[in-house]
Amino acid sequence: MTIAIEVDNVSKQFAGLRAVDSVSLSIPQGERRVLLGPNGAGKTTLFHCISGTHQPTSGRIVMFGKDISNVSENARTALGMGRTFQISNVCTDLTVMENLLLGMLGTTSQKWSMFRPVTSDKELIGKAVASLERVGLQGRENEEVKYLSYGERRQLELALALSSNPRVLLLDEPCAGLSPSERTHFSKLVSGLSREITLLMIEHDIDVALALADKVTVLHRGRLIFDGLPDEVQKNADVKEVYFGRL
Ligand SMILES: Nc1ncnc2c1ncn2[C@@H]1O[C@H](COP(=O)(O)OP(=O)(O)O)[C@@H](O)[C@H]1O
Ligand SMILES: [Mg+2]
Repeated sequence: MTIAIEVDNVSKQFAGLRAVDSVSLSIPQGERRVLLGPNGAGKTTLFHCISGTHQPTSGRIVMFGKDISNVSENARTALGMGRTFQISNVCTDLTVMENLLLGMLGTTSQKWSMFRPVTSDKELIGKAVASLERVGLQGRENEEVKYLSYGERRQLELALALSSNPRVLLLDEPCAGLSPSERTHFSKLVSGLSREITLLMIEHDIDVALALADKVTVLHRGRLIFDGLPDEVQKNADVKEVYFGRL
C-alpha cells in the first residue's frame, strides 16, 4: 500500500498556544479522508503545515515517501499537492479565465513575462479550459467573477486547485457558506473526482463529511482524538462529547 501523506508527530506552537499537538496520521493513496473537529481545533493549522504555509514547530510531513518538511509551498505544488483555502481567494474584478491563469502562473516557475502575453499561451489556456470542464464551469471563461454565485466561485477555486494536476488535494471547508443545493452540487463534484487523487478535506457539515469520507479523523484542542471509519465516528464516546456536545 502506497502512503500518499504521512503526518509524523507534528506540532505547531503559536506563542502560548499549541494549535496542533503531536498529531500523526497516514493517508493511503486514493483515500478520501475528512478532518472534523470544533472551531479552533487546529484543522486549518494542520492543513497549513501539510501544504507548507506553516513550518511545523516539530514533526515531519512525508508525501509519497519523500520528507517534504523543508520543501517550500510552491515546490510542494510542483510535487503534486493542490489545495483550496477556507477564505475565498479569487479576484472578483477579474474574469474566470484571468483568475485561473493568474493562479496557475503563481504556482509554476514560469512567471509573468512582458514579452510573452499569457493570454497567447495556448498550452496554459488549454489546461485552464480542461480544469474548468472538470468543475462544470465550461463556457464561463469570460465572465467576471463578481457575477458568479458563491457556489460557482468555490467551483472556480476547485478548478484552480485541479489545474496543477495534483496527486493530493486539500480542501478546507469548501462547502462553508453555501446554500443546501450548492452544497449538494459541490459534494457531487468532489465525489466525481478521479480516485487517483488522494483527498484530505475539512468539512463542518457532518452529512456531507460522512457521505464523502472513506475514513474520518477528528481533532480537538490540537490533538487527534479519533481516526477511523465514518460508521464508527458518531458512536465514539470522546467524539460525541467534544464534537456533538453530548455523551
Ligand atoms: N497564525 C496564528 N497565530 C496565532 N494563533 C493562531 C494562528 N492561526 C490559528 N491560531 C489559533 O490556533 C487555534 C486553531 O486554529 P485553526 O487551525 O484555525 O482551527 P480550525 O481550523 O480547526 O477552526 C485557534 O485557537 C486559533 O486562534
Ligand atoms: Mg479552519
